[in-house]
Amino acid sequence: MIVVTGATGNVGRALVRMLTEERIPVTAVARHITAADVPPGVRAVAGDLAEPAGLRAAFDGARALFLLVAGQEPYAVLDAARAAGIREVVLLSSQGAGTRPAQYEHAALFEKAVRESGLDWTILRSGGMATNALAWAESIRTHRAAAAPFGDVGLPFVDPDDVAAVAAAVLREEAHRGATYTLTGPEATTPRERAAAIAAALGEPVRFTEQTREEAHALMARFMPLPAVEGTLAILGEPTDRERWVSPDAGRVLGRAPGTFAAWAERNAAAFR
Ligand SMILES: NC(=O)c1ccc[n+]([C@@H]2O[C@H](COP(=O)([O-])OP(=O)(O)OC[C@H]3O[C@@H](n4cnc5c(N)ncnc54)[C@H](OP(=O)(O)O)[C@@H]3O)[C@@H](O)[C@H]2O)c1
Repeated sequence: MIVVTGATGNVGRALVRMLTEERIPVTAVARHITAADVPPGVRAVAGDLAEPAGLRAAFDGARALFLLVAGQEPYAVLDAARAAGIREVVLLSSQGAGTRPAQYEHAALFEKAVRESGLDWTILRSGGMATNALAWAESIRTHRAAAAPFGDVGLPFVDPDDVAAVAAAVLREEAHRGATYTLTGPEATTPRERAAAIAAALGEPVRFTEQTREEAHALMARFMPLPAVEGTLAILGEPTDRERWVSPDAGRVLGRAPGTFAAWAERNAAAFR
């Protein structure tokens, strides 16, 4: 049995589907989840990583945990996992935990707790995900427009299905234990190019407008804590060489190149139609 936290999210939902296709028993956890949110045969358990004591029922009988950075108590979550007999943890962290640990201190704390947990562990540091473009879904649907800051700064966004596929491989193969992988897509794309890729997938033009840093800051601060806003804007606007880097890790684990943003846009065109 594998416990997947964040099971209704972009990565978690794909991971639950992949493990289920491999006939691996899964317990799917999120704060708001019912049997209708998961494939037939998957156990859905409502649980909050901010309340580790309540996770014991979800953890019982599992061998491995796919863990999200959420809540403030990674040590208590990992204690509960160990007490329930879990032996392995795969953490979905952020690239920023390595490149900007002061601004990504939440993810850095989870990484430290995982390394000190006494469990077998693997850390997946995801770069920016293609699904961040879903923030444009409504404006593209309603008036074929997309806005973002730093329109011509390129970053190798990763397809969350590839993050999930790497997690599934890591949970299957012991060789990855103790590894920290950086997951990116196969090439850098700029926000302007991503809007154009969505337009190509739709077969209709999409107007791209560049926001100022201040406009983007104000919008992001509505749903993200301030250090995360600063860290994200720094990566989007002034990425370091390491943040522009196309990592080989996903390709090595998967035995194929990770998917392009254009391929993600084609698969997800319905969200923008
Ligand atoms: N987007 C990026 O560019 C990016 C880059 C690097 C790393 N990441 C990391 O990747 C993670 C997953 O990304 P995603 O796109 O799959 O996220 P997502 O689509 O926003 O989904 C988040 C999932 O986590 C669950 N969740 C949130 N808080 C929880 C809590 N306290 N306890 C239990 N479950 C909780 C949500 O369900 P409920 O709301 O029902 O609980 C949902 O299932 C993110 O959380 C982020 O830390 C993202």
